Amino acid sequence: MDSKSFHYRLAGGSNIEYRPSRYRPYGGVPITIPVRVIQESDMVSLGELPVINVDKECYGHLRMFALGAYQPLTGFMGTEAVRSVLLSGCLPDALPWQLPVYLESSRCFAVGSKILLRYEQLELAQLKVTDYSASPVALREYLGREPDYVIGGELTLLMYPDRKLVGGIADWNDLLDRALLGRNDKRTMALVGVQAWRADDEYLLRMALVMADRVLLHGAPDTDNTVTDRLPRTLADRASRAVINEHYHPGQVCVSPLPSWLCRGRLSPLQLAIIYQNLGCQMLGVVSELAQDDRKALAAVDIVYIELKAPFHCAECEGPVTERECVHSRDKHFRLGENEILNKLLIGDHLPPMVARPEIARLLSREVSRGEIPGAAGTMTRHIFPHASKVTDTMRQRLNGHRAAVLWMTGLSGSGKSTLATGLEKELLLSGHQVCVLDGDTLRNGLCGDLGFSAEGRKENLRRAAETAKLLMRNGMLVVASFISPFAAERTMLREIIGKGFTEVYIEASLEDCERRDPKGLYQRARSGLIPNFTGISSPYEAPAKPDLRVNTSLLSIEDAVRFLLFELRGMGLLKGAATFSTVPDADGQQAKLFFNSGRSN
Ligand code: ADX
Repeated sequence: MDSKSFHYRLAGGSNIEYRPSRYRPYGGVPITIPVRVIQESDMVSLGELPVINVDKECYGHLRMFALGAYQPLTGFMGTEAVRSVLLSGCLPDALPWQLPVYLESSRCFAVGSKILLRYEQLELAQLKVTDYSASPVALREYLGREPDYVIGGELTLLMYPDRKLVGGIADWNDLLDRALLGRNDKRTMALVGVQAWRADDEYLLRMALVMADRVLLHGAPDTDNTVTDRLPRTLADRASRAVINEHYHPGQVCVSPLPSWLCRGRLSPLQLAIIYQNLGCQMLGVVSELAQDDRKALAAVDIVYIELKAPFHCAECEGPVTERECVHSRDKHFRLGENEILNKLLIGDHLPPMVARPEIARLLSREVSRGEIPGAAGTMTRHIFPHASKVTDTMRQRLNGHRAAVLWMTGLSGSGKSTLATGLEKELLLSGHQVCVLDGDTLRNGLCGDLGFSAEGRKENLRRAAETAKLLMRNGMLVVASFISPFAAERTMLREIIGKGFTEVYIEASLEDCERRDPKGLYQRARSGLIPNFTGISSPYEAPAKPDLRVNTSLLSIEDAVRFLLFELRGMGLLKGAATFSTVPDADGQQAKLFFNSGRSN
């Protein structure tokens, strides 16, 4: 093999040439996951191997391996690597890495054995087990649940030459083609947080093309159907593709191949940079501000990281700009949030060119006026036209003197959620805040009186509670919601429904303490089998791994816990008399955050 060109032989037989001189994967040494073509004769021996049916997330990992996006990993991480990544942000060889790429299983396998990984009836890969053990504590905390075993091993991707792979499952060959295309001489920039269908965002896309030959648009986070105040992702994606196809050179702007669940805020800036370096990008532009620690961590990655400002339309500049280029005051600036755009479309308003290109405005109006918006099944039906309010959030905020938010208290029954919620409510009300409490027991007596405690009953209970909390928050309230909300997936749903302003507060208390307190005598009845599906006894409580706030009522009295929460909320700038803080070193040289009340009302 000569050093200038390199033939990558795909399993299917095609050769693609690329110049490795420009391409440097993370870790420095290119790693390719082997692909094995399955012949008829292999079927019998493969059929004897044990099988793990993997979920969509794990299938997403396999695609990432096939794309070369996870170099230098050669397969799923073993326990030591998972622990090291979660606790120290590094692989065991000290290379920075922040995403645990693990495979879980309910049974164990011998080291050295081979397993088939199956997704939707199709064997997609073979794993040679190098490590299996009980899932590490760090992973349990990260996931907020308890997978039995974690299996590490080396991957071989399987390919069926004569069989067209079915139902949305990628053909590895196609993925490998796409991976290698990113590694040629073109300068490629990945863009995160930019949607091509928005006229203001398109300004950033054009700027990116001033610097790069090609742009990879990182998919907008998708949402499940419970989110009603954003454009359905399928429609937004269609609009973006229409702009890309009509107004850019073929191949100049591509949609990033990352699975959508990975785009959903799961990737730290460092991990994003690693993946896009591996995909052959030299630059990564992200619309958000970096924390100091992230900025330091990025030194490990060979990519130019560009912090972008959100673009808006400026009446004086007569076009889209960001605050870097624009010298005009804020009252000249204009940018609609996605919920405002959707509201406009629903009441039949046409989007002005500063929001979307005319043909995109027409496409969106047409689809929305049809009533059945794809991707939002059941949430937005024909002939429903939410009325846009004439009162803005800022008007309410100015009048109330504080921001609106939902403080969502989750914890076991008896952990002190309701007592804390009412304590907090009283303090906030007496200090002049618009506040109200939403409590599980109260809602279950009325609005949710038809629901039980099965997984589905709880999900619907929490969905209704979240929609109610959102309405109250939109009306300027500080909403203190107190619900067991035992499952991590449902708490993610709450965050998605409520959006900005959602604050998860974990009211922590050991099961023993809750059972000892047993204020309603429910634990005793649950233990004697009188209450089925009782949280903590016969139904699990998945403790939040990373709540926004955490209060331990086994350690703090209710009064102290209320005081602590008030202090934290003030620090977050949610209360009247905005807090200011400064960071000073303490006696040990550690940075300590000091909050001051700026002294207005309160
Ligand atoms: S959640 O799981 O859907 O969030 P929620 O907070 O609304 O629960 O309701 C919990 C309250 O219902 C508890 O405080 C308790 O009084 C009562 N309850 C009745 N049956 C159960 C049960 N099986 N599990 C938990 N709480 C129960």
